[in-house]
Amino acid sequence: MGGGWFETVVEAQRRARKQLPYSVYGALIAGSESGTTLADNQAAFGELGFAPHVAGLSAKRELATTVLDQPISFPVVISPTGVQAVHPDGEVAVARAAANRGTAMGLSGFASKPVEDVVAANPQTFFQTYWVGSRDEILRRMQRAKDAGAVGLIATTDWSFSHGRDWGSPAIPERMNLSTMLSYAPQALRHPRWLAPFLRQRRIPDLTVPNVGGRGEQAPTFFGAYGQWMQTPPPSWDDIAWMREQWDGPFMLKGICRLDDAKRAVDAGVSAISVSNHGGNNLDGTPASIRVLPGIAEAVGHQVEVLLDGGVRRGSDVVKALALGAKAVMIGRAYLWGLAANGQAGVENVLDILRGGVDSAVLGLGKSSVHELDRSDVLVPPGFERALGGGTAGAAE
Ligand SMILES: Cc1cc2nc3c(=O)[nH]c(=O)nc-3n(C[C@H](O)[C@H](O)[C@H](O)COP(=O)(O)O)c2cc1C
Repeated sequence: MGGGWFETVVEAQRRARKQLPYSVYGALIAGSESGTTLADNQAAFGELGFAPHVAGLSAKRELATTVLDQPISFPVVISPTGVQAVHPDGEVAVARAAANRGTAMGLSGFASKPVEDVVAANPQTFFQTYWVGSRDEILRRMQRAKDAGAVGLIATTDWSFSHGRDWGSPAIPERMNLSTMLSYAPQALRHPRWLAPFLRQRRIPDLTVPNVGGRGEQAPTFFGAYGQWMQTPPPSWDDIAWMREQWDGPFMLKGICRLDDAKRAVDAGVSAISVSNHGGNNLDGTPASIRVLPGIAEAVGHQVEVLLDGGVRRGSDVVKALALGAKAVMIGRAYLWGLAANGQAGVENVLDILRGGVDSAVLGLGKSSVHELDRSDVLVPPGFERALGGGTAGAAE
């Protein structure tokens, strides 16, 4: 087990808070405005209950499934998260951990490691891209991911450039050089457990985004690429359909919270959607993704794969999402806390916690497979659901 082992994702977060400089911890907490959506993503899972059996439980439970044609050992995959100065191995460590636990890696287009290195660490890598730059530039980025061996594409187009947070945003420098390092030194030196692996590898936290440009080109800085993104007109549904056509392979549109958008995504030819509000980092006031999942899954779940992300911290959360219609979930902060707490082993630890939790809930519910879960396995309190863009529960048309 080793000294770094932790028992729950909450404990991993506690360690991350202690070990990380405040600006790095704050960048992972993220959220926007009042944090209402951020909080609701987790709180909503707590409102759902279970009705366990006492005998006749199954001695063997099947947890394996597939996402975007990739077989995975249990229904949890890594959601893409942008450039992180959490650990020097960053996304490569996360990719290795996912591979060791038999699951897929979502790699952010704004990640700190080249897609080629990440695919080498985990061949089940889905490359995520935002709508940044011209169609030609977007196409080149997709082609580079394809050449590297990425087995799926995730398009994330829900970003709304909401920057203020009532609890304050961390100051992040444009570029890490000697003078910014020195200005951060007091913060960094107070967190030796975070700094030590960087020093061992003689590296400084990297704030460049190598997958935005071409292979082997000088990587743009995070803020340089972010500026280009802000200048890029947001995509139309025709753009989404164009992008889908250009990618020869499984394609996910991430960030769906409305029924009408889910249907348009189906029309655009996607293979999968993720019901998501970007982990509460976007338009504050958007309901928890688990509240909008049931209506969307019911409407389009037979046509495309429906995943959910947002607020998943326990295996039982995964089971609740599956019972309400998701095929699998994606996790964001849960693995970031693990990475911060204990590097690659910390991410493996988080995946083990979630797998154990899924297995335990499936056992208690008297099921023998994650594929048998359905709505009758969860208690959904009145008024829990929200229907956005169609339907009736708390409707917003
Ligand atoms: C620090 C941070 C960075 C993120 N960066 C990206 C990104 O680059 N691309 C993307 O599609 N989603 C990004 N997300 C959203 C996640 O993929 C995912 O939707 C969200 O974290 C799920 O919520 P959870 O953190 O509660 O699991 C980011 C989330 C966080 C917390």
